[in-house]
Amino acid sequence: MRWLAGERVELSIRDARTDAFAGHIQLGSIIPPLNQAMTGYSLLPRFRGRGFVTRATVLLVDWAFEHTPLCRIIAGTDTGNVASHRVLERAGFARDALLYGLLPGPGGTRLDDLQWYRLRTPLPAPGSADAEPGPELRELARRSSRYYQGMISG
Ligand SMILES: CC(C)(COP(=O)(O)OP(=O)(O)OC[C@H]1O[C@@H](n2cnc3c(N)ncnc32)[C@H](O)[C@@H]1OP(=O)(O)O)[C@@H](O)C(=O)NCCC(=O)NCCS
Repeated sequence: MRWLAGERVELSIRDARTDAFAGHIQLGSIIPPLNQAMTGYSLLPRFRGRGFVTRATVLLVDWAFEHTPLCRIIAGTDTGNVASHRVLERAGFARDALLYGLLPGPGGTRLDDLQWYRLRTPLPAPGSADAEPGPELRELARRSSRYYQGMISG
């Protein structure tokens, strides 16, 4: 529904053999001047370790680079989430930065966030229409920003 509303891409991941719901993957936090978006995902425990999220990430990122002006897709992970790090490495992402104390943790603590990025290749030629955010992406970002503001303010 949020995709239809133009806020972000939110997809289910399904077992191709049984069509059972296995988890979800999303693309949001769009920043048009940077042509950047963030991906995130989660899988039900019994479906983990079978490559589902690696495949879903590759499919979603390749689709975004082919069908939208996005040039940079990022992901944030817990520093100890080795499974997620492997997913991103296998999906062509590289380590970007460690953001100290970015996320609120339990009991008033703050958690570090290890960030990853994947760039579109080849990048669009400077000045080409594809290098510009375009009205669709700007509108998506406007609605996405409203959605996240709603989440923060409750
Ligand atoms: C992280 C998560 C999405 C990975 O999905 P998945 O479909 O199981 O991933 P894959 O099957 O593609 O496995 C990825 C790699 O991680 C490895 N792995 C899986 N669990 C692991 C663990 N507990 N410790 C170390 N490596 C692990 C796999 O062996 C595989 O490695 P390989 O590429 O060398 O073969 C899934 O574990 C999950 O939903 N976790 C809870 C939610 C979460 O952490 N979301 C991500 C937030 S950033």
